[in-house]
Parts: sequence; structure tokens; C-alpha cells
Amino acid sequence: MADGSSETKSSNQMWGGRFASGPDAIMEEINASIGFDKKLYAQDIRGSIAHATMLAHQGIISAEDKDKIVHGLNTILSEIESGAFEFSRRLEDIHMNVEARLATLIGPAAGRLHTARSRNDQVALDFRLWVKEELQKTEKALTALIAAFLDRAEEHADTVMPGFTHLQTAQPVTFGHHCMAYVEMFGRDRSRVRHAIEHMDESPIGAAALAGTGFPIDRHMTAKALGFREPTRNSIDTVSDRDFALEFLSIASIAATHLSRLAEEIVIWSTPQFGFIRLSDAFSTGSSIMPQKKNPDAAELVRAKTGRINGSLIALLTVMKGLPLAYSKDMQEDKEQVFDAAESLELAIAAMTGMVRDMTVRADRMKAAAGSGYSTATDLADWLVREAGLPFRDAHHVTGRAVALAEQKGCDLADLSLADLQSINPAITGKVFDVLTVEASVASRTSFGGTAPAEVRKQIAWWRARN
Ligand code: ARG
Repeated sequence: MADGSSETKSSNQMWGGRFASGPDAIMEEINASIGFDKKLYAQDIRGSIAHATMLAHQGIISAEDKDKIVHGLNTILSEIESGAFEFSRRLEDIHMNVEARLATLIGPAAGRLHTARSRNDQVALDFRLWVKEELQKTEKALTALIAAFLDRAEEHADTVMPGFTHLQTAQPVTFGHHCMAYVEMFGRDRSRVRHAIEHMDESPIGAAALAGTGFPIDRHMTAKALGFREPTRNSIDTVSDRDFALEFLSIASIAATHLSRLAEEIVIWSTPQFGFIRLSDAFSTGSSIMPQKKNPDAAELVRAKTGRINGSLIALLTVMKGLPLAYSKDMQEDKEQVFDAAESLELAIAAMTGMVRDMTVRADRMKAAAGSGYSTATDLADWLVREAGLPFRDAHHVTGRAVALAEQKGCDLADLSLADLQSINPAITGKVFDVLTVEASVASRTSFGGTAPAEVRKQIAWWRARN
């Protein structure tokens, strides 16, 4: 049965009983999902084997039929994996493609597999299994990214760089501390992934079309066989629910947003103007016209994938928002969004992990930039509060005048003479110069979670014990 063949005019062998003729070609085109849901073949077969095994255990089908079914399904699995399986658009989706092939392979026993189930709970099962596995992969990928950052943070716990607010130099921080900010972000993403796995860890199979079934099935048995904690509790919700897909996309969107912010920083840091990092050849490209260029394409594409992933979330939210309970065919549009977002996210995390591991950190450039832009002004103000007893608001004002004077002289705060500083406030002594270096500034910020190297090393150790 080739796709789109003239056979499309005969009625469907799976549900065609009440149909005199088959679907119009356009109907077939809009209706078929096999083009993308064939990705669910392994989950579909696994689900069917669990279902058939349970049916036989409950005496709903015979043991011989169950054996034939399981054997046939395993044959189909190897046919698909070897590329020998011929998918047919006429058979709409993965569920009916597998079942039709099963009928060819084992004859009438195949017709017993669909007892006490519907494609509605079948697709909910297959897709949930797929998303759960994808989340498990995401968890691993995030762990590798966090590990890459922990290594860089450890290496650069003492490397001073400018910290920014509004992308204006704010206060000196360490590169290790900046790396650890991303560890926190990706750590939160990973804990969202773990929670989502827990939320979705319920088996849909056995909800049937929407109302459950009169056959004496054992949903606890299938749930266990398929690695779920327990069965879902409401058959109507079960076939209507795509929260697991929406949760995946929400988590993916937030993680992608983090990746995109990092990508943006990498783009900025790798410009000749900043020069904070050099990307490896392996994660950059050249220009076909400008020989001097080394472009951060991977970072730019990670930034762009975020748009795609966010788009998938909005698309599925929009598909779901008007649907009455229970199943509607609209829900078939869930898969491509999730597949596309999953592929983009996997690639973006992997590319980022490579970039972070490989990039050269230019500590000299970071330090030089950290010292410019009057980044230790807050340290001067704090010193005035601590040593000269000024209220912070007054200290802020005095420091502002010192910055204005340095600006006027074209030098840094630490280059002003003691006489210059005393002309602004006579309480200032030579000891003030101890706090005006970037190293002293950073070392002084020992508050919990602060940028002092000793504090950053504590946070690295905390994460190492949890990664
Ligand atoms: N291909 C369908 C989907 O992805 C499978 C479920 C079809 N159910 C139905 N009642 N037509 O949602």
C-alpha cells in the first residue's frame, strides 16, 4: 500500500464498517499523522504487549492469542527498526499501521488486541511514554551542562570580571561566580524536569475511549508493566489530558530562555570589543568574505531555537484551550510541536555544553575590564560607612563626587591621590586604597551566595555533592 495510492477510495479496514467509500485524498492528507507519529512505534508496541499480556492474564483473551500477538508485535518492531516496514498513509497513524501489519502476520488473533482499549487511551499512553523518556534524556543532558559549568567555575573561582546591571559595569565579580549563576538556573530546570516526571508518572491505558470499559481489565498491572507509578484516576481526564506535553514544553521554554541568555552573553563576550572569551574552532564558523572573522554561530542558533521552542508551547496551549472534554482530533497536533521542541532543546543543550567546555577564558581581559568603569565605587561608599561612620546615603554622595573627579581627570578611583580624596571628605585615610582594587572588592563580598572566591567554592562543593 503506497502512500496516496488509488486504493484510498476503499473504506478503512479499521473503522470502515459503516462507510460505503473511503476518504477524499484531501481528507486523508489532513487526517493522517503517520508522517510524524511513526516516531512513537516503540512506545506503541511496548504498550500493546503490556495490554495483550494483561488481557490474557485476566482471561479476556486466550494465552495462545496473546503469544501470537506478542510474537507478531516483536516481529513488527524489528521490521521497523531495520527499515523494512512499509508505513501507509491510508492507515492514518502508527496505531493502525502496526495493527494492520499484525493482522497480516498472525491473522484473526490480531483483531483481539484492541479489546478494552481505544486509540484515545493508546495515543495518550504512547505519547506520555515518549515524553517521559525525553524528560529523562533532558535530565541527563542538563547534568552534563551543569558539570561543565562546575569545572569552569572551579578553574575560575578567583578570576575577576566586571559584573553588570543594565549591561553597564556594576561591581567586580568572579567568572566562577557568574558560571555558578548558570548552574543555579540549569539546576532549577533539572528539578522542574524531575517534578514533571513525577506528575506524569500515571498510566493512561485502560481509560478506553473515554468512559472506561466493562471488561475486567487490570490497570494496575499494565501501569506496573510499563514502568508507571500507578494508573490515572479519571478516564475522561485521561484521554483529554495533554498537561504532560504542555509541561514538557513549558520546562523546555524556560530552559531555552536560560540557554538563550547564555548564548547572548557568549555572543557579547566573544566580540573583539569585549574579548572575554575565545570560542574554540569546533564551535565557531568563518565568513566567506571577511577572512578575519570568527563567528559565534552556534550561540546564535541556540538563541534562535528558543523562539521555536517558545512557539511550540504557545501553539499547543492554543490548540488545547478551547477543547471540550474528552478527546478531539485537534489533539493530534500535539506531537509535532513536542518533537520539534525536544529536538531543538537537545541540540541546544549539547551545543552549549560543548561551547562552555571548549571556550578559552581570557582572564587578563576580564580583569582589565573589571577595573574600569569605577566598579569599586560601592566599596568606597561602604568603606566610608564602616570606617568614617557616614550614613550610607551621604557616603553614596561623597563617592559620586569622587567618581566625577576621577572622570574629570581621566583616571580610575584607585588612581586618585589621597589629597584628591580628602578634598572631597577629610575623613578619608590612606587605608581606603586597600578596598579600591577589584581583588579586594571581590574578596570582601563574603555574604552567603556572594562573589568572594571562598564563598563561591562553598557553592561549588554544594553542587558537586548534588550533581
Ligand atoms: N492519531 C491520533 C492522535 O494522534 C490517534 C487517536 C485517534 N483517535 C480517534 N478517536 N480518532 O491523536
